[in-house]
Amino acid sequence: MSNDHLALEASHLTKLFGTLKAVDDVTFSVQRGEIFGFLGPNGAGKTTTIRMLTGLLTPNEGRVIVNGIDLHDHMIKAKMQMGVIPEVGTTYVDLTAEQNLALTGKYYGLSRERIRERTKELLGALGLYERRGDPVRTYSKGMRQRLSFACAIIHEPNVLFLDEPTEGLDVQSRRLLVDMILELNMKGCTIFLTTHNIEEANALCQRVAIINKGRLVALDRPEALRSSFEKTQSLEVSFDPRIATDTLCFGHVSKIETSGDKMILYTDDPHATIKQVVDVAQQEHARILSLRTRGPSLEEAFIMLTDDKRPGCEIVD
Ligand SMILES: Nc1ncnc2c1ncn2[C@@H]1O[C@H](COP(=O)(O)OP(=O)(O)OP(=O)(O)O)[C@@H](O)[C@H]1O
Ligand SMILES: [Mg+2]
Repeated sequence: MSNDHLALEASHLTKLFGTLKAVDDVTFSVQRGEIFGFLGPNGAGKTTTIRMLTGLLTPNEGRVIVNGIDLHDHMIKAKMQMGVIPEVGTTYVDLTAEQNLALTGKYYGLSRERIRERTKELLGALGLYERRGDPVRTYSKGMRQRLSFACAIIHEPNVLFLDEPTEGLDVQSRRLLVDMILELNMKGCTIFLTTHNIEEANALCQRVAIINKGRLVALDRPEALRSSFEKTQSLEVSFDPRIATDTLCFGHVSKIETSGDKMILYTDDPHATIKQVVDVAQQEHARILSLRTRGPSLEEAFIMLTDDKRPGCEIVD
């Protein structure tokens, strides 16, 4: 079968650092025009994966194909298809924004004229035009991030890789970057991004892969991931007077969190749990001040998937 509809194919990617398997037999593919999210906790292997996908790191095993081009066999041709925004910015701090873009444009073989056009266009869109002549060393983190973005897309790549692009940015800078990502995607650019922010992945991505300790633990649409983790539904309840947490460790309850005067009971059967909560309130002569059901959350699903221990009923204060 032809794989023309795929922008990216990663098969059996594995990376060892000494004896540590940072990435362990990871296989997935990304459709053309898709926004694909890679979620995982610190040290899960996200950056290592992105570095292998973009040719910065050679895998011990496995293969990467970008728009039908084998990265290992045709490194330069494959790299011309890509834009990369790494975890740590790669702009030259002693150069100005204009100089950084000129250098990157030249690297990708753009003409001087085209570099001029793109520089104006990108710095304008990213709110950096006024500062174009200042050395990057004088820029804030958000400004540097925006410049990295401009450098990564100067050659209008087909596939854009972003490693935690909005990490540490304020709401406004984050919004601007997200809008730019969406706009690029509308124009047909495939997006591969890593993030810690579940809400962001949920809002932006068509599909999300979850990685933990180097292994893929899930890959699906955010909606499907959400509905497949019934255990992450919860009840939020408050009693007067308060009830000891361990009286609420019913059969269906996998975890209890306390938040102010409220308790959050994670349950795979909210219906049964509500009845039990009411019974306990009666037994303990307590009033239920509030009771609210909460749907499954991707965030909880993520925690559950990446959590090693599965206790009967975990109590978290
Ligand atoms: N160059 C390296 N040498 C040795 N170990 C490394 C190297 N790079 C990464 N590692 C290890 O590989 C594992 C995966 O790291 P990686 O940077 O890919 O994680 P990550 O998912 O990007 O985490 P974060 O969310 O913190 O950015 C970690 O245990 C890390 O310590
Ligand atoms: Mg990382």
